[in-house]
Amino acid sequence: MERIRLVFLGPPGAGKGTQADKLQNDFGIVKVSTGDILREAVSKGTTLGEVAKIYMERGELVPDDIIIGLVREKVLQFEQFVLDGFPRNVNQAEGLDRLLETLNKGLTGVIYFDVSNEEVKKRLLARRVCPSCKRVYNLITEPPKNDEVCDVCGVKLVKRSDDNEETIENRLKVYYQQTLPLLEYYERKALLKKVDGNQPPDEVYKNLLKIIGL
Ligand code: AP5
Repeated sequence: MERIRLVFLGPPGAGKGTQADKLQNDFGIVKVSTGDILREAVSKGTTLGEVAKIYMERGELVPDDIIIGLVREKVLQFEQFVLDGFPRNVNQAEGLDRLLETLNKGLTGVIYFDVSNEEVKKRLLARRVCPSCKRVYNLITEPPKNDEVCDVCGVKLVKRSDDNEETIENRLKVYYQQTLPLLEYYERKALLKKVDGNQPPDEVYKNLLKIIGL
């Protein structure tokens, strides 16, 4: 079977992380989420975390050289992966191309989760995360069994610090300015595949599996 090496593209709240988790759980395809790596660094208070925090709280992109270094470490380790939230601009995409070429590990597809602005805003404001196991919930679409408490750990769920109206607006602005041009970049390479991300998570997943041939 062909190795699976994907990039997940889409606006904040499109469901990239949700779908990458499903692929990881069902098929062992490693999820490499630059957002998760950065949030862990922030919570541990490392030097990387201290730098990243400033950008993340404003909804801006963390500098490319830092991010490309983080991704390099991960793609060296794994044969199959989903890059969730990377690349975010053309410079990062070119850096990724160079890296994968040296490793002889070409991408097998780039999945664009197409979701309306209104829907992503609604999802982000209702997202809650378990600070212990990191499971992601949604108070509207994927609520925990008991009021704002993790089903697995019993810990009180939290809101991501960038899931507030002001930062969401800025993340969307950055997405349209810097990340959207990647659709054309990957279309030219005949790698781009579109999934309707407005559907419920299991429907999106069914379509995703069909598209990537699993
Ligand atoms: P990052 O963590 O990558 O955030 P993002 O791109 O804004 O994406 P999200 O994690 O918010 O959304 P998602 O698409 O994964 O949605 P999810 O599945 O959680 O980046 C955060 C910050 O880190 C950036 O702003 C930047 O500062 C920095 N950063 C990260 N990568 C970088 C890079 N490469 N370069 C520079 N800086 C970088 O779903 C959202 C909610 O909706 C959840 O509650 C979920 O339960 C629910 N949901 C999911 N799917 C559905 C569905 N189909 N229907 C209904 N609800 C759904």
